[in-house]
Amino acid sequence: MSGANLVNAVNRRMALRAYPDGMPRPEDFEVLEGPIPDIGEGEVLGRAVYLTVDPYIRVHISPSMSVGYAPTTPLGAAIPGEAVLQVVRSRHPGFAEGDYVAGFGGWQDYCALPGDSLRKVDVGLAPLSAHLGSLGMPGLTAYAGMTQLAEAKAGQTVFVSAALGGVGAVAGQLARIQGCRVVGVSSSAEKCAWAVKELGYDACLDRTSADFADQVAAVCPDGIDVNFENAGGDVFWAAFNNMKAYGRVIVCGLISGYNNDAPPPGPDLTPHLLRYIALKRVVMKGLMVADFWHLRPQFLEEVGGMIRDGRFRSKEYVVEGIENAGNALIDMLEGRNFGKTVVRIADDPA
Ligand SMILES: NC(=O)c1ccc[n+]([C@@H]2O[C@H](COP(=O)([O-])OP(=O)(O)OC[C@H]3O[C@@H](n4cnc5c(N)ncnc54)[C@H](OP(=O)(O)O)[C@@H]3O)[C@@H](O)[C@H]2O)c1
Repeated sequence: MSGANLVNAVNRRMALRAYPDGMPRPEDFEVLEGPIPDIGEGEVLGRAVYLTVDPYIRVHISPSMSVGYAPTTPLGAAIPGEAVLQVVRSRHPGFAEGDYVAGFGGWQDYCALPGDSLRKVDVGLAPLSAHLGSLGMPGLTAYAGMTQLAEAKAGQTVFVSAALGGVGAVAGQLARIQGCRVVGVSSSAEKCAWAVKELGYDACLDRTSADFADQVAAVCPDGIDVNFENAGGDVFWAAFNNMKAYGRVIVCGLISGYNNDAPPPGPDLTPHLLRYIALKRVVMKGLMVADFWHLRPQFLEEVGGMIRDGRFRSKEYVVEGIENAGNALIDMLEGRNFGKTVVRIADDPA
């Protein structure tokens, strides 16, 4: 393959050196080099500009947790995940050199992907990085949860954990735009203040506060109509104990448990959970974005339109360099990100 348009002569990839045991450590990751892949008929060679850092990646890199969800990432292989790519070669009629696309290229400079698996990115709509967050899979997840499952009505209280993240920021803003009272959860006073000022949450509570559960009860005196659950653990229980009769829990994610192979030790809370579901007639609905890809056109039109006209804020937390992707995952799992985490590995000409 000729070197034209290829910024690097080799393909760098961020790979796993060892499977993490609990919270990943920087030494579990390593940058390896290999050849730039060739493409076959119907394929596209993309050069990554932004890589996503999403909670599902933690599941992919665990032999025990990935069971029933996705193939475990082999040691030495590029860590899987979506990327915003610029097309550098195309053997697919739908894509030309220079196009921007999103696809599951993994944490590496170059990837060869079937053209049919890619979606074109509208560079005029929002910054490229937003297509991995508010306008990408996380945003679509929030959109599906809020428009298809939550049944939230104006004036109701919607509770959103991981409130500034790729999913939470979209869920919270959609609830606000629907006229709901929106209570977010984050992990510092600074992040909470930003969520109220910039994302329009009515309140945002710091989950690291010793009296967090009391704060939830105080801020939601009439109860919670919709809990958009991204966290699990103590945050889930603080919300669940304040659910209103006929409230809905949208079970989107359980990030507090993604580093644990086994359930945490402690009492069996199932009787409390089931008793409360019966007494309060609470409905719990599982959310999987894979059921809702068909909503993407209307999602892009609605949320993209609101970003364009300024009613909706999209914020990415941009980490520089493929060599920092592993640390970015650790920071995200520990709540040190400030918005949806992405890694920039090439110039963003858009
Ligand atoms: N069901 C689906 O189809 C689907 C699709 C996409 C994502 N998800 C899930 O949605 C959730 C949010 O994903 P995202 O991509 O938007 O991630 P994100 O919010 O951008 O980043 C993760 C955030 O989780 C919070 N967090 C970390 N540890 C926590 C803990 N122990 N307790 C409570 N919160 C904790 C931190 O936020 P703070 O520091 O601000 O608290 C961190 O910034 C995840 O659970 C993810 O697995 C599900």
